[in-house]
Amino acid sequence: MDLSTKAHIDQLTIELTQHNFNYYVLCEPTISDYEFDQRLKELEKLEQQYPQYADPNSPTQKVGGEITKTFVTVKHNFPMLSLGNTYNEQDLLDFDDRVKKAIGDDFEYVCELKYDGLSIGIRYENGVLVQAVTRGDGVQGDDVTANVKTIKTIPHVVRGLENIPSNFEIRGEIVMPLKGFLRLNQQRIDNDEPPFANPRNCASGTMKLQDSKEVASRSLDCFLYYFLMENHSFKTHYESIEFAASLGFNVGKNYKKASSILGVFDFIKHWENERFNLPFDIDGIVIKVNNYQQQQELGFTAKVPRWAISYKYKAQSVSTILEKITYQVGRTGNITPVANLRPVLLAGTTVKRATLHNANEIERLDIREGDTVFVEKGGEIIPKITAVDFTKRNVNSQPTQFVNHCPECGTLLTRREGEANHFCPNELLCPPQVIGRIIHFVSRKAMDIDGIGAETIEQFYRTGLIKNYADLYDLRFEDIVTQDRMAEKSAQNIIVGIANSKEQSFERVLFGLGIRLAGETIAKKLGQHFKSMDALMHATKEEINAVPEIGEKIADSVFAFFADPENKITIQRLQKQGLQFKSLYKEVVLDSDVLVGKSVLISGVFEGYERDDLKKMVESHGGKNASSVSAKLDFLLAGENMGPSKLEKAEKLKVKIISLQEFLAMLG
Ligand code: IVH
Repeated sequence: MDLSTKAHIDQLTIELTQHNFNYYVLCEPTISDYEFDQRLKELEKLEQQYPQYADPNSPTQKVGGEITKTFVTVKHNFPMLSLGNTYNEQDLLDFDDRVKKAIGDDFEYVCELKYDGLSIGIRYENGVLVQAVTRGDGVQGDDVTANVKTIKTIPHVVRGLENIPSNFEIRGEIVMPLKGFLRLNQQRIDNDEPPFANPRNCASGTMKLQDSKEVASRSLDCFLYYFLMENHSFKTHYESIEFAASLGFNVGKNYKKASSILGVFDFIKHWENERFNLPFDIDGIVIKVNNYQQQQELGFTAKVPRWAISYKYKAQSVSTILEKITYQVGRTGNITPVANLRPVLLAGTTVKRATLHNANEIERLDIREGDTVFVEKGGEIIPKITAVDFTKRNVNSQPTQFVNHCPECGTLLTRREGEANHFCPNELLCPPQVIGRIIHFVSRKAMDIDGIGAETIEQFYRTGLIKNYADLYDLRFEDIVTQDRMAEKSAQNIIVGIANSKEQSFERVLFGLGIRLAGETIAKKLGQHFKSMDALMHATKEEINAVPEIGEKIADSVFAFFADPENKITIQRLQKQGLQFKSLYKEVVLDSDVLVGKSVLISGVFEGYERDDLKKMVESHGGKNASSVSAKLDFLLAGENMGPSKLEKAEKLKVKIISLQEFLAMLG
C-alpha cells in the first residue's frame, strides 16, 4: 500500500471537511475560496488516480453545505447544484471547447454577475410565495420562508394576472448590500459584538436568525437567476429571466448575451474594475449556454451543470505597513503568528490582520516588524501577505525572532520534529488550550451540546465553574443561573443540552476528547475497531497502529493521550457521568464480494430501477461508485439516454461497458 499517498488523501479529506464545516455551518471560513478549490482539485485528482483510498464521504462527493438544525429540513424538488470554477481565460476556452464538441458552433451564452451571498430556492403556487429553502447540502436545506418574506424585493404575490404558471420555483442569491453591511457592523462594534468578516457571512448569518423581525431590520436583497418549472415553454434562459422580471422579481440589470467566448471575455473585463462600483459584492461572473434544448443536451455531471461555469476574479493587492507580529495560541497549543497591519482598504473591506502561519513562513518571506508588505485578497475572507517590499525596508531592521515562550501562560515553547508549528506543551493549564478543548467537546460534530457556545464556555472557565469537559456534567442549574448575563431559560437550556448529550455515540465522545491528530474520521475508525473505551484504553501502540488507515504518528498520539494520568481521571469521570463508552456500530455484511476493489459508474436511466438503488447494489456487493469516467474505472453501467461524450470517453479508455442485464447477472 502506498502509505504516503493514502495519508495525503486522508489529510486533505479531513482538512477540506473541516473547511466545509467552517464555511457552511460556522459561516467563518479560514481559507480563501481559491485555496479551497485548489485543494479540492488536488484531492479530486488523487482520488481519480487512487480510487481505493477515497473516502465515500469525501468532500469531493458533496456539493458543499451542511444542514443546520434549528429550521425544518426540506428536500429540494430539483437538487441545488453548484458551478464549476475557473480562474483564467484558458479554463474558459477549454469550457467553450467542451461545449462546442457537444453541441456544435451554433449557440450563444448569457453572462451574469456572480452574486456573493447565499443561494435560495423560492417556490410559488398560483403566484403566491409558499416556501423558501436554503441550499443546505444541495439535496435538502432549511425552510427559511419567514425570513425570506422579510426581504423587500421578493414578491409575496407575483405581479400581473395572466400567464402565471400554477407551480414554479425561482432560485437566486440573497446578498447583503454594502451600505447596510457597514452600518450593521458599526452597530455591532458599538455594542461590543464581533463584526461580520464580510457581506456574505453577514447575509448567511442573518438568514440563520430565528427572529424574523431582526432579519427584516437588516435590509437584505435578493437577485434571481434561475427559473425552474416543469413543461415550460421558454426557448432560452434569457427569455425565462425576462419573464421572471415581468412577474416582479429582481433579476438585476447586468446580464448580457454573448455570441461567442470573446463576448464573454469582454464582459469579464468590463466587470473586473466596475464591480467595485456596485452596491453589493460579486466574486466573479457566471456564463450559461442560453438555449434550453442545448442545455439539456449538455446535461450535468454529478455536481455541476455542463452548460454553465463561473469565472472568479483574481486577488486584489495593496501594500501597507506591518506594525507588529503577535502570537495566538490555538486549542491544541499551536502557536500562530499574526501580522497586525496598518489598516488598509482592500477589495471593499478594511484589512487589519493577516496570518503568518508559522516560523517557516516568517523566514520564507523574511518579514519583519516595520516592513512594507503586499497584502492580497480575492473574494476570500482572510487576507494574505504575499511579499515584503524590500526597497522600503529600514536599514536598522533586524530579522524576526519567533517567540520562545507562550504568550498566554509563559511556558517555554517546543517544536515537534518535522512539524512547522511551535506549540505550547502546557496542555492542562494554558487557558486557550483548556477553553478550546471544551469548545471542541461541545461542538456540533462532537457532543453537539445545545445552548452553550464559545463565549459561555469562556465565561464559565474564567469564573472558575469548569476546568475541563467532565466538569460540564457536574454543573447544576444554580451554578449557571447565577452567572453574569444568564437568563433562567438559557440556564435551563444548557442543563438540558448537557443531559441530552449523554446519548451521543461513543465515536462522537472519542472525537470530543480532542486527541491530537484524531479528527472525526479517525475517531470513528478507532471507535468502530475497538468497540469500547476500555478496549481502546488498554490497547498497545502497535495494536492502535494496526487499525487500517491509522498511521504511526496518530497511534503515538492516541496512546500518549490514554497513558496520561490526568486524562485517565477525566475519562473515568465521564464514564460515571453516563456517557456512551461502547460502540453501536455493526459491520456491514456484504451480499457478495464480486465487486470488491472495483469501481462502477452508473449512467443513463434504467427501466424498473432507480439509479440510487443500483448504487446501493454496487456497494452491497463490495464495489465503489465512481463519479466520472476515468482509466481507473472498472465498469460503466450504461442505461438509456446516456451522454454520448461519456460513452465515447469510456470507449477510448477501454473501460468495460455493461448493460443492466449483464450487471444483474454478475451479482447473481
Ligand atoms: S446559476 C445550476 N447564476 O454561485 C446552476 N449561480 O458557485 C445554478 N451564484 O450555487 C447556479 N450568482 O449560489 C448561478 N448568476 C448566477 C449566480 C449564481 C451567484 C451562486 C449560486 C451557486 C454558486 C456556485
